[in-house]
Amino acid sequence: MFFSSQGPFQSFFKNNRWSAPLYRLVYFLRYSSYFNRIIRNLHRPTFLLRLWRWHAFDRHYGIDTQFPLDPHDYDISKEVLADCTMYGGSSPDLFQRAMACLPVDAHQWVFLDVGSGKGRVLLLAGKHPFKRVLGVEFSPALHEVAKKNLQIFPAHELKCADIQSILGNALSFPLPTERLVVYMFNPFGQESVRAFVEHMCTFLKTSSHELIFVYMVPNHAQVLANCPALREMTNVWISPGDTTLRQYCRIWWSGES
Ligand SMILES: C[S@@+](CC[C@H](N)C(=O)[O-])C[C@H]1O[C@@H](n2cnc3c(N)ncnc32)[C@H](O)[C@@H]1O
Repeated sequence: MFFSSQGPFQSFFKNNRWSAPLYRLVYFLRYSSYFNRIIRNLHRPTFLLRLWRWHAFDRHYGIDTQFPLDPHDYDISKEVLADCTMYGGSSPDLFQRAMACLPVDAHQWVFLDVGSGKGRVLLLAGKHPFKRVLGVEFSPALHEVAKKNLQIFPAHELKCADIQSILGNALSFPLPTERLVVYMFNPFGQESVRAFVEHMCTFLKTSSHELIFVYMVPNHAQVLANCPALREMTNVWISPGDTTLRQYCRIWWSGES
């Protein structure tokens, strides 16, 4: 708990040039799920390669989108925190493979990342010529990191000129009335997924625009059965040969067959 407190002591350790690496190491060790996952998979060269590639994205651009953040440092209330998962960035490789499956002309679509964290997906989506790329994130701490990453990222690598991280709660965020790709990488537990799906469903009753819902690590996909306006397209759009993507990603669409 010493490291989760928001006191001046923690702030000093976190920001001091010499103690910051130690602080990050302690954080890393505290993240048992992240750390244990690495330990459990150390014998699997493919996992190590994947981890190296995930970090490579940050190293390449000098940004910070991979390293987990203690949810106690999200600067949000405990009640909200209860149903929220730990921050972790999407795999750039899986993200790009998922985008390649979507039968959309990006120029005509808006992209929304639900729980955009440090902005990794905003940057990855920004490499496509979407009309706009939006991310909604309720942690001020993560939102600040995202804004910094957006400033650092080289503009010439982006094909979308309008990329925003927005501070807010995804469960009440007004969805843009445009053709919309909604991307969600496991941001919260079942109750919040249910609430968000209801939010999308209510929106679809009044919107005449198509919506595609990309759910990465779909732990609570059964909730989508409550939204008849969305039809699952995973088996249609993701090639049967891409077993990894099928394992981690499910896709729904509001259009007609
Ligand atoms: C697993 S991270 C995914 C980050 C990013 N979308 C990506 O794929 O790289 C989930 C994020 O969702 C955020 N989150 C959880 N509940 C939220 C809510 N109700 N509203 C907005 N953001 C939320 C968390 O703070 C965290 O940053």
